[in-house]
Amino acid sequence: MGLLSPSRGDAVAHAPCCSVIMDPCRMRMAPRIEDSVIASHENPEGRPRGPRSWPDHARLVKTGSEMDSKKAADDWTSFDERQLAYHTTQWKNPKESTKAFEAFIAHRLDGSRRIIDLGAGTGAATAFLAGRHPATDFVAADYVSDFLRIGENVAKNQGLDNLAFRQLDWMEMPETTEFDGVVSLQTLSWLPEPVEPLVQVFTKLKPEWFALTSLFYEGDISCTISVHEHVTGQRFFYNVYAIPEIRRVCAEHGYHIASTKRFEIGIDLEKPDNLDAMGTYTRRVVTESSDTIERLQISGPILMPWHMLLIERS
Ligand SMILES: C[S@@+](CC[C@H](N)C(=O)[O-])C[C@H]1O[C@@H](n2cnc3c(N)ncnc32)[C@H](O)[C@@H]1O
Repeated sequence: MGLLSPSRGDAVAHAPCCSVIMDPCRMRMAPRIEDSVIASHENPEGRPRGPRSWPDHARLVKTGSEMDSKKAADDWTSFDERQLAYHTTQWKNPKESTKAFEAFIAHRLDGSRRIIDLGAGTGAATAFLAGRHPATDFVAADYVSDFLRIGENVAKNQGLDNLAFRQLDWMEMPETTEFDGVVSLQTLSWLPEPVEPLVQVFTKLKPEWFALTSLFYEGDISCTISVHEHVTGQRFFYNVYAIPEIRRVCAEHGYHIASTKRFEIGIDLEKPDNLDAMGTYTRRVVTESSDTIERLQISGPILMPWHMLLIERS
């Protein structure tokens, strides 16, 4: 069993005013997010210093050996300093992918009344969207209450009054029609599989539209990628989902994919020194026409085929 779920997550939230956070896995103190974490990890590219960057901080950890169980979705266990830094750094330096995502769905964000972000972490990316679209209400939802509490504090300090926080398990979504739009950034590929999360959204929330960023492939091939960092002992998914498969699931529930876009990063990311830990970096390649440069995004031994999808009700 993991240590952080809605109820288990509360165990680390008793630190007074979020000034200290006890890591329940390693039982050591994490620093205040307002100063030391943000300050020491930020860099101009908006990613934590050190060998890792999101989504490499995602810790979808299985304590058992099976990585294909849906139960794995409830096994995000690590709440370590680097993961915390991944979430909190974004408050000051929004990720390039978040900016691209905002541009991709700006027309839908503007026309919507209320939007929920599933797997929002501390809500840093949600806050970026909320700041750009002040007439729309946003709810940052996650099942780890500690993330939400941290985000609430930061949002309050920043005076963002169109951003709320809600604890919620994506796999056991409550039925509600209060949201006309749903977003999810960099989370679906770190869940065991895509179908149930999509069906939960389509049948429980029934939104007008649902936009997400994750690892997708244009062809009809999905890959379940189970990463095992032998040195840290941590395991997590880096799944790549076939867009045609997502299209079929949409069609079965009265939705369709309205548009897709590859996320091509506009900056170079250095290769981490530590080869034993996942960490995104870029390599420039010349495109077929030889007149432009493309940046491949690589993490550990894996190519990262980032895409943005906009799904709409048919
Ligand atoms: C790796 S983070 C991405 C955070 C954020 N969207 C971003 O782009 O920075 C994935 C998040 O999904 C959350 N998560 C995983 N499974 C979930 C579930 N079943 N219900 C709600 N949140 C979940 C994790 O707690 C984590 O905060």
